[in-house]
Amino acid sequence: DTSVTGVQTCALPISMGNIFSNLFAGLWGNKEKRILILGLDNAGKTTILYRLQVGEVVTTIPTIGFNVETVSHKNVKFTIWDLGGQSSIRPYWRCYFSNTQAIVYVVDSNDEERLGISKQELSALLEEEELAELPLLVFANKSDLPTALAPGKVSESLGLAGIKNRQWAIFQSSAVKGEGLYEGLDWLVAAMKK
Ligand code: GTP
Ligand code: MG
Repeated sequence: DTSVTGVQTCALPISMGNIFSNLFAGLWGNKEKRILILGLDNAGKTTILYRLQVGEVVTTIPTIGFNVETVSHKNVKFTIWDLGGQSSIRPYWRCYFSNTQAIVYVVDSNDEERLGISKQELSALLEEEELAELPLLVFANKSDLPTALAPGKVSESLGLAGIKNRQWAIFQSSAVKGEGLYEGLDWLVAAMKK
């Protein structure tokens, strides 16, 4: 875990790979749909990103900073930014808000204990001016595990029914089994066209 104190300056140490991805995204970003994947640590964000990008389950480590990849789906080219979800890194999420076209919020459906924190983090995001009115896709992830809560229960815990002034949807997903992800993306493509 990193320790971060004081005012967030939007300067995290990043690897060379990230520098090049960043540069690439910067040059071409305007022609693509920029999406943020957010959610608590261990929710499965990075696993989802690479499942979509390479079609496989990759071995992940907790993300310190971000991963960015392009994924094409239904003739839409997405630039997907996957940010680290650890509590010490969450203050940096805002550094990536500008020019975003949609939010994907990932929840571990088995992590009942932290649904309250997840709700708080989501509520804070939805109050951000830079993210106003953007479509919100929620993945109730890890549905393959026996202790997974039903998406309706996750939705209720997150208070999704109270969301105003934006389109939203929740999909059950399993990044490990590859289930639910494209259904969610299909919804997002349609929502972004509206
Ligand atoms: P941070 O980078 O710390 O924010 O976490 P993250 O949200 O990127 O989580 P990550 O993708 O690294 O996944 C965390 C753990 O959950 C890994 O061991 C994954 O293999 C596992 N995981 C992710 N998705 C699923 C899923 O759908 N089902 C199951 N059973 N495990 C999953
Ligand atoms: Mg990650």
